[in-house]
Amino acid sequence: MSYKEIYASWKSDPETFWMELAEGVDWDRKPSRALFRESEHYCNWYSDGLTNTCWNAVDRHVAAGRGDQLALIHDSPVTDSVTRVTYGELHDRVARLAGALQRQGVGVGDRVIIYMPMIPEAVMAMLACARIGAIHSVVFGGFAANELAVRIDDARPKCVLSASCGIEPGRIVEYKPLLDEAIETASCKPQFTVVLQREMSKGQMTEGRDLDWNEFVNAGQPCDCVPVAGDHPAYILYTSGTTGQPKGVIRPTAGHMVVLHWTMKNFFDMDPGEVFWAASDVGWVVGHSYICYAPLLHGNTSIVYEGKPVGTPDAAAFWRVISDHDVKALFTAPTAFRAIKRVDPDAKLLARHDISCLRILFLAGERADPDTIQWAEHHLGIPVVDHWWQTETGWPIAGLLMGVEAAKVKYGSCGMAMPGYDIRVLDEAGHEVERGELGTIAIKLPLPPGNLPTLWNADSRFVSSYLEEFPGFYNTGDSGYVDEDGYVFVMARTDDVINVAGHRLSTGLLEEVVASHRDVAECAVIGVHDDLKGQLPVGFICLNAVEGLDSGEVVAECVQLVRKQVGPVAAFRQAVVVPRLPKTRSGKVLRSTMARIADGEEFKMPATIDDPSTLDSIATALRTIGYAQQ
Ligand code: COA
Ligand code: AMP
Repeated sequence: MSYKEIYASWKSDPETFWMELAEGVDWDRKPSRALFRESEHYCNWYSDGLTNTCWNAVDRHVAAGRGDQLALIHDSPVTDSVTRVTYGELHDRVARLAGALQRQGVGVGDRVIIYMPMIPEAVMAMLACARIGAIHSVVFGGFAANELAVRIDDARPKCVLSASCGIEPGRIVEYKPLLDEAIETASCKPQFTVVLQREMSKGQMTEGRDLDWNEFVNAGQPCDCVPVAGDHPAYILYTSGTTGQPKGVIRPTAGHMVVLHWTMKNFFDMDPGEVFWAASDVGWVVGHSYICYAPLLHGNTSIVYEGKPVGTPDAAAFWRVISDHDVKALFTAPTAFRAIKRVDPDAKLLARHDISCLRILFLAGERADPDTIQWAEHHLGIPVVDHWWQTETGWPIAGLLMGVEAAKVKYGSCGMAMPGYDIRVLDEAGHEVERGELGTIAIKLPLPPGNLPTLWNADSRFVSSYLEEFPGFYNTGDSGYVDEDGYVFVMARTDDVINVAGHRLSTGLLEEVVASHRDVAECAVIGVHDDLKGQLPVGFICLNAVEGLDSGEVVAECVQLVRKQVGPVAAFRQAVVVPRLPKTRSGKVLRSTMARIADGEEFKMPATIDDPSTLDSIATALRTIGYAQQ
């Protein structure tokens, strides 16, 4: 079947389409139907089925006699080590960890926070939770203690699984003190923690609360998989919204498994047994779906890479990993390739490694600029496929089905709608625009399997964030257009979310932190264009009217405050002091106009602006830090 036929078969009979896909996974009890439309806003998939994700990702491969095949390869240039884990070993270690958790009272529906670096134990922790029906929530290591505390308070976990440290180039990130601080700050205290002590730096343990990972696992009796309902939450993943409070995206068990399994062949063109590499982090949705779950559900070998595209030790790092482990498909963010291209513009380091095994490069996480795609195509000599998705969806909304046909790549486009996604481009009034015209990209309800059914503890926020503006549609928060051939072009966010090095950040959160500085009267944070990271946050600060304030000092303190409260991942390094913020007469800060000025783009003077001269002072301040150049 071609892409067009697959899409049409979904559209003409979605129920049959999804029931056929459900054959790809094992069930303890098959679902009676696919879609369970609960109400106008809420729907679930395969709800009356019973299944277990860990069984499908691990046990069934062992049961099929493939226990000796590699499941995970931990390639860690920062510790100069490579560790290989077979499906058989993965099964033993996960079953033991799950048994130990069960013995400690963790069961179906209990939450477990996982705060770990890129090590195989992070994947094992996720699978162990899935095995016993516990709901995991992985928190990215680049977040500060405060952000971890916010997630602890929202998820109310029974325990936290962690490691003593992570390793960033040139420094050790001590996780344990951050974990201690987060637990201290949080009002909901987890009952216990399990900490993997890494050789590079061991954490100080708190008697009676912190358990040693190895002792904990060794004392555990292997346990069986616990079947859960199809709509049971597999995990919660927090992502940035427009406010400081992150959104807890819920991933439903069965829909997640069914679609991820299907994408491995149809989208990524992978056959079981082959090596797949998603160079992301388990703390992000790409890491959940394509480092942990999808490759394992499909019986592939997944690479857990603890390193960077450059600097660990050089810009040939990706080529070495591909060649050493016979990687067939690489999935990463465009920023990683921009980083390599910047250091090695002619890709001279490629000559050191034979990467003829690599068939396709997949890019996602941020807009892929045509320059980067063409550079990769030119030097690698393989198709480079951009695709678009979100934490909320868990799998691609648009892309190319590379396992189905050799589809044409259009530069600047992230491909065509995937089955399940009825993409519409809407104007402000909710009317569909003509092909080729810009608008908000929306998806006609119901959202397909694997997508969020709602937000954790926040049903009304789910409705107000995504469903209210355009009744009958999910608002993606992205703007763009669809061309005559059905190719989707995602251009920008319509809200105050920015994308820094493929990481999604809320300017609202950064503003809350900057505004908490005692000398700041008000502030705004916008995303400005950056050649490497796509966007970078820049702050605008209005100071309190206090005699003798040193504005440079306040700026430096605000930068430190964001690093301390949000974490280094915010990459917040630049801020300027301005006399006033540009606002509409009703008091709304004109962030998008400020961003256009910063990027040196043309802009229309907003008709509702209160004081046009405020834009001049913004431009002047931006020029002092190298932006707003025409
Ligand atoms: N734990 C602790 N700190 C972390 C971290 C982690 N897991 N990940 C990043 N950080 C820190 C970095 O060390 C850096 O700290 P610094 O300010 O002390 O230098 C800061 O957070 C910003 O990190 P980042 O934005 O990633 O910048 P970088 O300069 O370290 O690396 C790239 C730039 C492009 C090489 C890097 O962003 C990259 O590889 N991106 C790939 C994209 C990706 O993984 N996307 C995920 C979604 S697909
Ligand atoms: P996250 O939830 O962190 O995966 O971020 C999702 C957001 O990243 C989307 O809403 C887009 O704004 C952006 N994004 C992801 N992939 C792409 C892509 N291929 N092209 C353009 N933007 C993208």
